[in-house]
Amino acid sequence: MSMRDRLRGRDFLTLMDFKPVEIKFMLEVAMDLKRKWMRKEPHEYLRGRTIAMIFEKHSTRTRFSFQAGIAHLGAQSFYATPDVMQLARGEPIKDTARIIDRYCDALVIRTYGQEIVEEYAEYMKNPVINALTDLVHPCQGLADMMTIIEHKGKLQGLKLAYVGDPWNVCHTLMVCSSLMGMNMYIGLPKGWSPNKRILEFAEENAKKNESEVVITEDLRETLTDADVVYANTFHSMGHKDVEERKRAFAKYQINSETFSWAKKDAIFMHCLPGYRGEEMTDEIIEGPRSVVFDQGENRMHTEKAVLSLFVP
Ligand code: CP
Ligand code: NVA
Repeated sequence: MSMRDRLRGRDFLTLMDFKPVEIKFMLEVAMDLKRKWMRKEPHEYLRGRTIAMIFEKHSTRTRFSFQAGIAHLGAQSFYATPDVMQLARGEPIKDTARIIDRYCDALVIRTYGQEIVEEYAEYMKNPVINALTDLVHPCQGLADMMTIIEHKGKLQGLKLAYVGDPWNVCHTLMVCSSLMGMNMYIGLPKGWSPNKRILEFAEENAKKNESEVVITEDLRETLTDADVVYANTFHSMGHKDVEERKRAFAKYQINSETFSWAKKDAIFMHCLPGYRGEEMTDEIIEGPRSVVFDQGENRMHTEKAVLSLFVP
């Protein structure tokens, strides 16, 4: 069976559902789409198709990159927030899902619980694409891997150092690293930890792929000799304890001193939005080794790859 046949019609809910070879193929397709886009070559592979988008949380990158990408592919997108839908008046997800499935070729959804995207997927025949839940952010993960390959030429054997909320983006990087053989070091204050199921998945897969996932309170250990330094907000969407988190994570900042512990050619990454003066300083995000805007652009190319491969 060809790789395209393997992926067509599937849901894209978490990268845990895919084999490394499938992820590599998605990245190759994204790089090809990026080349076509740069050369202004038409690539309307989804002409006449319709894609629904339901976003229950704020978004700049994910919304605009999907909508731009859908337009490049020749399809149409429909965007709604749950508060303007009958969902807000009590219509169940299972009815909403079956109705959208009758009109649209895929659903892109950003919401809270992973069980919500799973419920849509259960009731839709067409693909459901996870545009961020509390648990994972697989679209971000694909774009991050593409960006690392562009700047470092590979994934296997690199050291990725992460600071920030042990939440969706951290979980996704744990999944990506363990599947693709990157070593991931997570610097976290005492008492904070990532999701247990994700940690188990990452530990098991890291072993298979000759890499490791390390959680440490020691920021120097996290950053020493890192090839990739990845920062994320201390307070993800939905968290109410913002001030407590800022206090707890304050020491885990990427600044000129702490960034100097990484390799001299280390790149700085951030999924954005970023908070200058919290998880990193302005000089780091604006510095010559910051690749955050390449990363943001790659969101669009990787999402186009997912759409062109998964939409039946
Ligand atoms: N990184 C990311 O998902 O950004 P948005 O929240 O702006 O979509
Ligand atoms: N961890 C962040 C990611 C934003 C793209 C959040 O969930 O708010």
